[in-house]
Amino acid sequence: MQKVSVILTSYNKPEYVGKSIEGILNQTYKEFELFIMDDNSDEETQRVIIPYLKDERIRYFRSSITCLSERAEKIRYAVLINQALKMCEGKYISYATDDNVYRPQRLEKMVRVLDTHPEIKVLYSSSRVILLNEEGKFKRTMHRLARSTTQMASCQVDHCSVMHRADILPIIYRRWGSYWDEDPHYYFIGDARFFWRLCHYWHFVPLEEVLDDNYITEKSLHAQLKCQEKSPLLRLLPDQRTCKELREYLRRLRGGEECRI
Ligand code: TYD
Ligand code: MG
Repeated sequence: MQKVSVILTSYNKPEYVGKSIEGILNQTYKEFELFIMDDNSDEETQRVIIPYLKDERIRYFRSSITCLSERAEKIRYAVLINQALKMCEGKYISYATDDNVYRPQRLEKMVRVLDTHPEIKVLYSSSRVILLNEEGKFKRTMHRLARSTTQMASCQVDHCSVMHRADILPIIYRRWGSYWDEDPHYYFIGDARFFWRLCHYWHFVPLEEVLDDNYITEKSLHAQLKCQEKSPLLRLLPDQRTCKELREYLRRLRGGEECRI
């Protein structure tokens, strides 16, 4: 069997992170390692994570970051993912966050496609998005469907819907000097920025089935963006680059134009 490396980033989501870890541990496909990359979460979150560490498939790392200004210097989840990617042993890489729950067959179904289609480098599946209100109660649900093969994946495909081959990573590293971009100008669209890099080389191929549930919580970075008053983190960040810029760049690249970003 092939081995998958799953990288889960975590920061202060005690209500959800347990469900997220369980979603991975309960996969029908068993041959994986799980990196839990925690960004020095509060005690409450640590108390949820610790009991799971008995599982020998888990490798747990906790950053020592303390102040907000340090959090704003680099995209934190990109830093954590880059650290994990250097240690991964899997043939395939899969990403998870502390507010996303993999459905039981996510790894099995994605591994099957990659195993039987060596030409596919990046695969993405559909996901169900659950929007929650300020009290954490259900507001509404929608679907993010994986329907077409795309080389415009930025902001079309989500962080937690992707599985890619590990052997593509050195190509990214050689060109940009890192895997995920840690530049804080992309703090809110770090996944879109990574996919932008991938899109220079490979198509994202869809697996149409819904394989994860993505909770949009009141605590998420994106919720901070919607608040009228700037959050303390937001006040420290530089002006943010946009999805539109990334997508326009890719469009020009496809058209053969010279482009700069
Ligand atoms: P999240 O708040 O879920 O943002 P989004 O609105 O994009 O869903 O954060 C995304 C991931 O980043 C999540 O796994 C937690 C991680 N993270 C850190 O590791 N450190 C941090 O300081 C922050 C704010 C987030
Ligand atoms: Mg989130």
